[in-house]
Formats: sequence, C-alpha cells, structure tokens
Amino acid sequence: MSEKQTILVQLDTDPLPSVFDRVVAVDAGAQHVFSYGGVTPETVTPLVHGCIFTRGVKDLHRTAIFVGGSDVAAGEALVAAVKAALDPFRVSVLLDSNGANTTAAAAVRAAARHLDLGTAKSLVLGATGPVGQRVVRLLARCGGHVRVGSRHKDKAEAVCAAVRKFVPDAKLEAVGVSSSADGPPALDGRTLVIAAGAAKAVLLPKKIRDTCKTLKVAIDLNGVPPAGIEGIELFDAGVDHGGTVCYGAIGVGGVKMKLHKAAVAKLFTANNLVLDAEEVYQLALEQK
Ligand SMILES: NC(=O)c1ccc[n+]([C@@H]2O[C@H](COP(=O)([O-])OP(=O)(O)OC[C@H]3O[C@@H](n4cnc5c(N)ncnc54)[C@H](OP(=O)(O)O)[C@@H]3O)[C@@H](O)[C@H]2O)c1
Repeated sequence: MSEKQTILVQLDTDPLPSVFDRVVAVDAGAQHVFSYGGVTPETVTPLVHGCIFTRGVKDLHRTAIFVGGSDVAAGEALVAAVKAALDPFRVSVLLDSNGANTTAAAAVRAAARHLDLGTAKSLVLGATGPVGQRVVRLLARCGGHVRVGSRHKDKAEAVCAAVRKFVPDAKLEAVGVSSSADGPPALDGRTLVIAAGAAKAVLLPKKIRDTCKTLKVAIDLNGVPPAGIEGIELFDAGVDHGGTVCYGAIGVGGVKMKLHKAAVAKLFTANNLVLDAEEVYQLALEQK
C-alpha cells in the first residue's frame, strides 16, 4: 500500500490559528495542515487522540503536532498537556509560539559563527519577552556569562530564575536598563549583545554602544524601524560596523525561516520528537 500522507495538526492558543505558521508548514512539505485555534490544555485531549488512534504505529511519524500562538507560556502549558494526552503513544511535537524558539535559535546561531559561546560575555536586552527569554536560555546552555536586561530589574531576576529551572548552572546576572546611564555598565566587558526588544523600541543608542570597546558581535531582532540597536541595518548579516559584526532582523530572519521549515520537516522523521528551544538550536547548528 502507498505511504500515508503527512499531516501537521496546528494547535494554536490564539483564537485564530496563525496563517504564517500554516504557510510555513505547507512550504516545509506538510501535505495537509489541520488548524485549530483557541486550544487549551482542557480542550486538547480529543484533538491529540485524533492523531494517535487513526494510524498504525508504523505510520505515526507521518502525523505531527505544531503548537503555536502569541503566548509562549500558554504554548508551554499546551505542550505539557499534549504530552500527557499522548501517553503511552507518541507523535512528534514542535513548540514555536511567537516564533520564539526559531528566532532565538537563529540569533544565537549567528553569534556562534563569530564567538565561542562557552566563554562569551553576553548582554540580552528586552530579555523578558518570549524571544529574549529563549535567547537567554540558549546562551546560558552554551556556558558563557549572560547579563539579562530589562527596564525592570525584578523582571530580569524572574527570567533568571525561570531559565535556571532549565539550566541549573547558568551564569546569569539580572541588570536593570531603564536609562541611558544604565547602558555603559550593562555593556561593560561584553563581547556579544542581542537586542530582543519590542518592535520600534530603541534599546541601545549608538553613543552608548560606542562606549563598549570589547564588543565583537551585535544582533538586533527588531524588524520595525527604528532599529533596536542604533546603526544596525535590517538586512545586515555579518556586516562589520566599526569592528563589531552586526546582524539585523531580516539578516537573522532568513535563517529563522529556514529553521522553521527544517523543524517542521524534522517532525516527520520520527514519532517521538519534542522540539523545544534546545532541539531547534541543535537543528540550527546542523544548517549550513
Ligand atoms: N527577526 C525575526 O525573524 C523575528 C521573529 C520574531 C520576532 N522578532 C522580533 O523580536 C523582538 C522580540 O520579540 P518579542 O515578542 O519577544 O518582544 P516583546 O515581548 O514585544 O518585547 C520584548 C521586551 O521588550 C521590552 N520593551 C517593550 N516595550 C519597550 C519600550 N517601549 N522600550 C524599551 N523596551 C521595551 C519589554 O521588556 P521590559 O519591560 O522587561 O523592559 C519586553 O518584554 C521583537 O522586536 C519582534 O518583532 C523578530
């Protein structure tokens, strides 16, 4: 009998399932995409059972689940509920709420092309957002020292605590960056800065960046001008600006898109994968 077609079941925590994620799924080769919105841990079990009780074990790798939506915490809770509902059967699952895993992995991968992340000294600005938190987690996993920046130091401390649950030996330091006076000490001695601030927010003016003589790599993920790191262009992808290798949002975004597709395609290679930040980063390392 011919091979079963691939089906990606898109479980979105927002009321309307993301068209972006659906288009990428099709471009990644999923032959069918079943999209559900407003999915919660309380409503997900029948959807998961529809995935596992319809195909024999040898075909289960051709059904997979994508968890998305704008709220990463809701996505994480949904993945936990999916795993519980799957037990003892398995289909593979990818979490990429808010594009956080694929974007963070692409940014950290860009940095790793230029720095040894085991010894790098990083500053993540806008580190409390979904993307920033994933960036902090991946950098911490690589072993270097990471300053976790927020306008509110207590929020940065909460991120440090959350990341330590995944990376207990993480070398993290919360820093409050609420005024221009806070910039130079936060940057002091850093070799890498990644800005993951909200769209349109300028987190690092050029005159403050210029105070840091150790900076080797600067990555800005804000795709809506003005840039989050002043002086970085949207399309920069490894461009040297005054001795610092720079990446802009679109410079990173191309890799993010490839990675998103690679992660969806990976789901159909086995029936027991759970792709979260670390697994997506591993895929990024495997990309050319
Ligand atoms: N390049 C790509 O492919 C790609 C893909 C996805 C997302 N993105 C971009 O990545 C960035 C991060 O996304 P996200 O969803 O994690 O961001 P977010 O949640 O909207 O914001 C991240 C953080 O920015 C800080 N912030 C908010 N307003 C600010 C302001 N006016 N001034 C200074 N800081 C402010 C906040 O931190 P504190 O309150 O703690 O200071 C917030 O937690 C966004 O710019 C997004 O557009 C890029």
